[in-house]
Amino acid sequence: MNFTEIAKNRQSCRAYNPNKMVEQEKLQAILESARLSPSACNGQPYHITVCTGKSAKKVAKATEGLGMNKFATQAPVMLVISEMPYVMTAGTGAKIKHNDYRSIDIGILSAYITCEATAQGLSTCILGWLDDAKIREICDLSGQVRLVITLGYAKDDDKLRTKKRKSLDELVSFIE
Ligand SMILES: Cc1cc2nc3c(=O)[nH]c(=O)nc-3n(C[C@H](O)[C@H](O)[C@H](O)COP(=O)(O)O)c2cc1C
Repeated sequence: MNFTEIAKNRQSCRAYNPNKMVEQEKLQAILESARLSPSACNGQPYHITVCTGKSAKKVAKATEGLGMNKFATQAPVMLVISEMPYVMTAGTGAKIKHNDYRSIDIGILSAYITCEATAQGLSTCILGWLDDAKIREICDLSGQVRLVITLGYAKDDDKLRTKKRKSLDELVSFIE
């Protein structure tokens, strides 16, 4: 798949096949691509906790508050993305420039993860609705949990949806 194909095929999966485990080499490829993600001052202010088995179920439960994300327990793997401290240069830059580089870095990391997963034939959903305190306890993390990414194989009947996006006219302006 080239990048255009990945962008067209990636979608948030909310119907997983709970019986189909993610192959170790595919998980490894996803984590390797995540490792190559760019970040402010190359600070890489994040950590990925790979949860499978009982811990995946526990993390899934912690994303299901108020009836949200009920599909998460079906995903065999949960990738927990938590914050790590800024390196000094990025932290100083963030203060001086009033820019939250860490959130940006975590967003890019998540894009790399979800796109490589698509290239590997796997499906993902980025979850921002989560119980930080519970997941920190489950995963023994000190940094804030910013996102959880569900990972697995979509059910056979989970078809590619038409993307609803702003038009290019709304999204982009050109100036000289
Ligand atoms: C930061 C972030 C948080 C999100 N949180 C959730 C979530 O908690 N539950 C969910 O079902 N989808 C969540 N999504 C998925 C978005 O709803 C989805 O990406 C968007 O509707 C576009 O659809 P698509 O990913 O299928 O193209 C989140 C996406 C992002 C980027």
